[in-house]
Amino acid sequence: MGQRIDQTALDALFREARTYAKWQARLVTDETLRDLYELLKWAPTSANAAPARFAFLRSKEAKERLRPALAPLNVEKTMTAPVTVIVAYDTKFYEQLPKLFPQSPGMKQLFEGNPDLVEATAKRNSSLQGAYLIMAARALGLDCGPMSGFDQAKVDEEFFAAGKPCFGCDQEFFPEGHVKSNFLCNLGYGDPSTLFPRLPRLPFNEACSLL
Ligand SMILES: Cc1cc2nc3c(=O)[nH]c(=O)nc-3n(C[C@H](O)[C@H](O)[C@H](O)COP(=O)(O)O)c2cc1C
Repeated sequence: MGQRIDQTALDALFREARTYAKWQARLVTDETLRDLYELLKWAPTSANAAPARFAFLRSKEAKERLRPALAPLNVEKTMTAPVTVIVAYDTKFYEQLPKLFPQSPGMKQLFEGNPDLVEATAKRNSSLQGAYLIMAARALGLDCGPMSGFDQAKVDEEFFAAGKPCFGCDQEFFPEGHVKSNFLCNLGYGDPSTLFPRLPRLPFNEACSLL
């Protein structure tokens, strides 16, 4: 703590890491996926609520269930990726707050009956957790291919029982199920020979202000 990580680590996490669409024929083990979660779970979320839920699609069958929801340009890269994660969020995340944030017993009630606050909190923090997943994957030597080009309603229906009876929750309050997809992320070991040149980024003075 208080020390910079070394240049090799910075390259692996940021400067040399790329978005991949083609993959080496190298499997990602379930143990690696567990290691991935064991890292990303420590990164911060508001009220320690951790609303993200992760569905790791590894089998051909699971990928086929996803196929109809994918934008055409995302089909091949996803079907050939060793793993595709659905980064989702649970709109009933606040039910875990007595366990995850026990020092504030009123926090659960703050969210109950306030769907706008629930949605904003779940979306913001699951997006963060998706980004933590990308960084944790890179730290473990994996490559990523995040995607927002998919039909969210189809994914939610296929994987999160949207529109079906919602056991243990108020169907009127959760007419579309209580777990919703945020974005997809392919995982594997990328094939660097297929990369396009790196796109530019905004310089400091166009993206930042010092006040
Ligand atoms: C949330 C998110 C959604 C994205 N959606 C798609 C997508 O649907 N299809 C695609 O081919 N690339 C998608 N990308 C990839 C970006 O275009 C890519 O990460 C960016 O251009 C940076 O590329 P680089 O990491 O190689 O520098 C997405 C990236 C993110 C973070």
